[in-house]
Amino acid sequence: MNHLSTKLFIYLNELKCVKAIILHGGQGTRLRPLTHTGPKQLIKIAGKPISQWGLEALLKVGIKEFGIVLGNNHAEKVVEYYGDGSRFGASITYIYQGEALGLADAVRRTKDFVGDDNFIVYLGDNIILEGLEQLLNFRGSASILLAQVENPQRFGVAKIENGKVTTLVEKPKEPISDLALVGVYAFSPDIFDAINEIKPSWRGELEITDAIQKLIDGGKTVSYHIIRGWWKDTGTPEDLLDANLKLLDNFLVEDNRGSVESSKVRGRVYISQEAKVVNSDIRGPVYIGRGSVVENSMIGPFTSVGDDCKIRDSEVMNSLLLDKSEVSGIQLIDSIVGQSSKISKKTSGFHGSRFIVGENTVLEL
Ligand code: TTP
Repeated sequence: MNHLSTKLFIYLNELKCVKAIILHGGQGTRLRPLTHTGPKQLIKIAGKPISQWGLEALLKVGIKEFGIVLGNNHAEKVVEYYGDGSRFGASITYIYQGEALGLADAVRRTKDFVGDDNFIVYLGDNIILEGLEQLLNFRGSASILLAQVENPQRFGVAKIENGKVTTLVEKPKEPISDLALVGVYAFSPDIFDAINEIKPSWRGELEITDAIQKLIDGGKTVSYHIIRGWWKDTGTPEDLLDANLKLLDNFLVEDNRGSVESSKVRGRVYISQEAKVVNSDIRGPVYIGRGSVVENSMIGPFTSVGDDCKIRDSEVMNSLLLDKSEVSGIQLIDSIVGQSSKISKKTSGFHGSRFIVGENTVLEL
C-alpha cells in the first residue's frame, strides 16, 4: 500500500462508526415506583425522554442508524414513542433482549444488526451530550469515555498505566482509579468474540467491563478519552432531579408558544403550545409542557412541568412533574410527581413537603 492509500485506508477505517445502539432494557428498580408503569429511559426531563437527549446528541455527531435494545419493562411504550425513527430524522431497528442479563448480553444480541461495522453503545438512562465525537474515530477494538468521579465505587472504573487502559473493574470495593466509565462506548465487532468468552458475574450479569477486559487481555487495543463536561447516569430519584437541574440550566431554549395572562415570567422559560399561565410567577429555568395549566402559582427555578399538568395555588421549586400530574394548594421542593398523580390540599395555608410519587397515585393532604 503506498502512502496515499494507507492514509485513505485509515481515514475510511476511522469513519466506520455509523450505527449506535441505545439500551432500553433493565429493571429500573432504583426508580420504582416511577418504573412500574414505564421504562426509566422514557421519563421526560425538560420536555424530552431521557434517551431522546442521547439520540439527538448522537444524531448531531452524524449517526443516523440506531438499534434500540428492548427489555421486559413496558417495551411497547418505547416502540410506540420512537416508531421507525423518521420523526427524529433517524432509522430505528428494535432488538429484543427481554430479561436484564447484563450490558454485555444486551450488546451480544445486536450482532446481526451491527454486521461488520464499528458501532457505539449508549446507555439509554445516561445523559452524555458532549464528547461523543471522540468515539467516532477510533482505531483498535474499542474506545471508552472516562470521567473523574468522587465516588468510584458506584461505577465501572478504568485504570490507566503508561497511557493505556490496563484494568477495568465494575463497582470496585477497593479504589483502583477515580476514572469512571461514562455510559457510552464504541466497539469493533471484536467485542462479540470477547463477550462469548466471559461468564456471568457474582450478580448474575454478563458485564461489559469483563468483555472489554477480555479484549485487553487478548492484546487488543482499547483507547480512551477523558471528558470534562457534565454527564449523568439517572439511576436514582436524586440523579433525575440533578439531571433536571442541569438540562434546564444548560440546554433549555427560551420560547413562549402558549398563553400568559396577568403573570410575571422571568429568566429562561419555555412555555409549550396550548399551555396556559394565569396570575402566576414563573422564575426560569422552567419548562412547561403542552396543554398544561398554571394558575395562581409560583414555579421555578429548575422545574420541568410535563404535558397536560394542572398546577393551582402552589409553589413548585427544583422539581419534576410528569405528564398529566396535578398539584393544588401545596408547596413542593426537590420533588418528583409521577404521571397522572394528584396532590392536593383542601385547606389553605402552605407548608413545605417532599414527595417522590409514582404514577396514578392520589394524595390528599
Ligand atoms: P442499570 O442502571 O445498571 O440497571 P437497571 O436499569 O436494571 O436499573 P436498577 O439497577 O435500578 O434496577 O442499567 C444501565 C442501562 O443499561 C439502562 O439504560 C438499562 C440498560 N440495560 C439493558 O438494556 N439491559 C440489561 O441487561 C441491563 C442490566 C441494563
